[in-house]
Amino acid sequence: MSVVRFGVSLEKELLDALDDYVSDNQFSNRSRALRQLINDNIVKSKWKCNNIVAGSITLVYNHNKRDLSKNLTDVQHDFHDVVLSSQHIHLDQDICLEIVAVKGKAAVLTKLANKLIAVKGIQHGKLTMTRAD
Ligand code: NI
Repeated sequence: MSVVRFGVSLEKELLDALDDYVSDNQFSNRSRALRQLINDNIVKSKWKCNNIVAGSITLVYNHNKRDLSKNLTDVQHDFHDVVLSSQHIHLDQDICLEIVAVKGKAAVLTKLANKLIAVKGIQHGKLTMTRAD
């Protein structure tokens, strides 16, 4: 991919904020940080455009809750065409962490994540999506 240089005019406060972002996230330079910020925002607009993205759904729950594990599996089977894999980790005696890797239309992944997070007994849930192209 060829790189194009262009000039950017920014208010001093915004530039300071960018430099803080660069150092906080240990980017080697402003260009890399800007690239990341632009990418993130393009991904956000892609969610609306319904493009293909990849991501993960992270779930934390107490496995002692009745029917919870079965309900989670049922929902994932309903969306088997976008579920790539899932990993189950026993965090302690009761609490489980489940990470579901997904790829597909952003709107479908969002629907799946919302359904999983809404399963009764889920304590925390989060969908992360990124570009898949
Ligand atoms: Ni477990």
